[in-house]
Amino acid sequence: MSTQPATGQQGDIAVDIANVAKNYGAVVAVKQVSLPIRRGEFLTLLGPSGCGKTTLLNMIAGFEAPTAGTISIDGHDVTNVPPHLRDTGMVFQNYALFPHMTVFDNVAFGLRMRKVDKQKIAREAEAALDMVKLSGMGGRRVKQLSGGQQQRVALARAIVFGPKVLLLDEPLSALDKNLRTQMQFELKDLHRKTGLTTVFVTHDQGEALSMSDRIVVMSKGEIQQISKPLELYSRPVNSFVASFIGEINQLPVARLKRSGQAVAFAFQEGVTLEAEGDHAHLDDNSDVSIFVRPESIDVAGVQGGPGNVVKAKVVSHIYQGTHTVTRIETPGLGLLDMRVGGGHIIDQKPAGSPIDVRISLENAVVLKASGAK
Ligand SMILES: Nc1ncnc2c1ncn2[C@@H]1O[C@H](COP(=O)(O)OP(=O)(O)OP(=O)(O)O)[C@@H](O)[C@H]1O
Ligand SMILES: [Mg+2]
Repeated sequence: MSTQPATGQQGDIAVDIANVAKNYGAVVAVKQVSLPIRRGEFLTLLGPSGCGKTTLLNMIAGFEAPTAGTISIDGHDVTNVPPHLRDTGMVFQNYALFPHMTVFDNVAFGLRMRKVDKQKIAREAEAALDMVKLSGMGGRRVKQLSGGQQQRVALARAIVFGPKVLLLDEPLSALDKNLRTQMQFELKDLHRKTGLTTVFVTHDQGEALSMSDRIVVMSKGEIQQISKPLELYSRPVNSFVASFIGEINQLPVARLKRSGQAVAFAFQEGVTLEAEGDHAHLDDNSDVSIFVRPESIDVAGVQGGPGNVVKAKVVSHIYQGTHTVTRIETPGLGLLDMRVGGGHIIDQKPAGSPIDVRISLENAVVLKASGAK
């Protein structure tokens, strides 16, 4: 098998995507993306359907050629190198297994293509199956397997030849919730064991937050933010990311008012919320967009606490087992969702009830309204 020379593997960057764009005729699938992927990291591409995730992955794997820009793996420009010489293992969005072949033959396929000798194929295929907890299942036909098992075969097939980079295109999206959670753990486990640089694609923000070292949020072929999960959740850089990551309320546009050290936000209908923090990067009298998570709004209790107490009316409840999402209407602030522990609020405050709520702005995301991306 012919590979790239082994020099240049010492750097921290496993895959370097530099100014890459992809057009399909008039459709701009990927606009202009630069993304250095660190060696050994679990990186997730996250974004809504059609934002260019699969296209970017296909360009890393070599199944699509960029319209512009370059892709390097281990310091070698592979932009014009065919897929089977790139050392990338891929799990496709739709399994793309060979349904009539056995599990073993599916896994061995890539090794046979690479003309590896028979004994080695047997050894490595079994090792890969063992890695995904399918040892001894090599003789089964793929169509006799469950969805989760098929997904493991696809994984085994992607890792069997020891790729430098593992590319996973929504590998868990077809699985039911329990199986999906289990496979999430197993994927992380596999990543820990192999240390493989992994690029994982999902449009499920919860999955991205729980699995990733870093998350790349994409929209319309462009990167919006690259951050660690916690930072992405607590400090989204623009309204797209704020709305896409986790549940969040966007308040109506407000005017920021400074008075000495204190900062307040003035809404329509004379409603004012006092800010926490100085928001030094925002000008006095500027228009701001404020995002508040449902867990930052609670029923105002007898004892005080940080935050602003406002009067509202209950619109509806959605019981979710551990908590209830209660939708309230607040003059000046519109409809807001709040998250209340347990389910007692459903009987205590039926729809239509007046309710005093406390809105904490401690973790609110405050962005410039005009010109904000
Ligand atoms: N072969 C193609 N020919 C023409 N347009 C394409 C082709 N492949 C993708 N596109 C377009 O490029 C854009 C990005 O598609 P892509 O498949 O990369 O999105 P995605 O983020 O993977 O979406 P999903 O979450 O639905 O899988 C879309 O507008 C899509 O219609
Ligand atoms: Mg896709």
